[in-house]
Amino acid sequence: MSTPLTNTAKRLVHGDKAPPCNLVIMGAGGDLTRRLLMPALYNLVRTGLLPDQFSLIGVDRQDLTDEGFRDRLDQAVRSFASEKSYSAEFDETHWKHLLAQVSYVRGDFNDPELYRTLKQRLDGENRDHATSENAIFYLAVASRFFGLVVNHLGQSGLVEEGPERYRRVIIEKPFGNDYESARALNQQILRTLHEDQIYRMDHFLGKETVQNIMVKRFANGIFEPLWNRNHIDHVQITVAETVGVESRAGFYETTGAMRDMVPNHVFQLLALICMEPPNSFCADAIRTEKTKALDAVHVINPQTDIVRGQYRAGSRDGKALKGYREEDGIQPESLTETYVAMKLGVDSWRWSGVPFYLRTGKRMAQRSTEISIEFKRPPFSLFRDTQTEELEPNTLILKLQPDEGASLAFGAKIPGPAIQLGQVHMDFHYKDYFQNAPSTGYETLIYDCMIGDATLFQRADSVEAGWRIVQPYLDLCKEQPDALLEFYPAGGQGPTKADALLETSGRKWRKLS
Ligand code: BG6
Repeated sequence: MSTPLTNTAKRLVHGDKAPPCNLVIMGAGGDLTRRLLMPALYNLVRTGLLPDQFSLIGVDRQDLTDEGFRDRLDQAVRSFASEKSYSAEFDETHWKHLLAQVSYVRGDFNDPELYRTLKQRLDGENRDHATSENAIFYLAVASRFFGLVVNHLGQSGLVEEGPERYRRVIIEKPFGNDYESARALNQQILRTLHEDQIYRMDHFLGKETVQNIMVKRFANGIFEPLWNRNHIDHVQITVAETVGVESRAGFYETTGAMRDMVPNHVFQLLALICMEPPNSFCADAIRTEKTKALDAVHVINPQTDIVRGQYRAGSRDGKALKGYREEDGIQPESLTETYVAMKLGVDSWRWSGVPFYLRTGKRMAQRSTEISIEFKRPPFSLFRDTQTEELEPNTLILKLQPDEGASLAFGAKIPGPAIQLGQVHMDFHYKDYFQNAPSTGYETLIYDCMIGDATLFQRADSVEAGWRIVQPYLDLCKEQPDALLEFYPAGGQGPTKADALLETSGRKWRKLS
């Protein structure tokens, strides 16, 4: 165990420039650094949040010079900036300043020599550029290296903290591949690190619209009184993607939709909807409530609560789409799921009897991440002689991406002499109110780690709670790999059996169109 934190007293206020630090990215030659981390750092330097005394040390096995590494990042960030269509304002001054703070170390993650070199490099940065002794180690490596790298960091003294220095470790997902492995990994890294030093990443929590769920619930008076079993009929959480497996066959074949999306991203959304109001906006108060919410979720019964699917060939907008088994690098008889839908219950005073329906899939008809909260119908049908029966129930839809905002559906009188009712929507779009700053979603998370705010990172107990819920499903798929698998056409709504999850109780999914 490292020295307990004594430097948290210096916790900063959000919006201040982060204190000097060094960021060491382990696995910096991968896609994540080019596509997401570096553009996020660029956005942070542009907005004045990155410290002036800062260094970024990329570590990987590839044979690269400092110059070669910088060139790669330069190309990646310029292309990111032009994709996000603000190339006209590309901020050369800030970008060049940032790039000059970047260097590269070649090494093998299992070689103690690498960690000695890193120690010298960090000392050198501090001596020559006053970057302080603070350091963040970002593990952008394959998950099998997480434990190993943390062990080496510990053995080499790199994660020892002191009154004047913090040492933090960001760990990317997937954190384990089932309940036992997640627990074992937590136990392993907690032998070296204090929980306060560990920042388990779930990039969904960096999305503004996801953070807004808490604001919507707890900063407004009108929603919370309705937010319970007395008023809510059911909740649907959808994370639908149009992309297929892309170039990640190796990773996806052994992961599948459940492990890739559910215990982490989807359950984080579920926890934000289900949690009780925290006593304060402190990291631990919030994370305790989120974990309590997940602890109350029924463990999945794979025979009744779940549907899994794999996309076969199909089309979208007249364009033919390959089936999963025809994608590059995928086994022609693969039984990996690219879609899961499930029905969950939450054993709590607030949610008893309210079903939660969750679905996530690749190659769907539409990209849409949203949470729809369907309210109960009025107790007495005053307008029974009109077309009231055809009215959809009141629904609050939290739109997380790509269309960011919220919508409330309710009934209204159609103008005219007769009483006829129609459904209308009250819509809020982020872009109508707030300037949309280009963002990868990683800006907030990297910055929060720099200022020591772990609110948007997963604690050990929350990660384990997520795996616990899905474990019976993972066990079934291990024993019987073809269990429950239904093929659905690419570009469609997903497996037909997913409809039956809701239809048995007279409900239906919101259509992806
Ligand atoms: C990642 C998954 O964690 O999240 C991907 O590994 C998925 O398979 C991605 O596509 C979705 O994130 P976003 O931010 O694109 O919605």
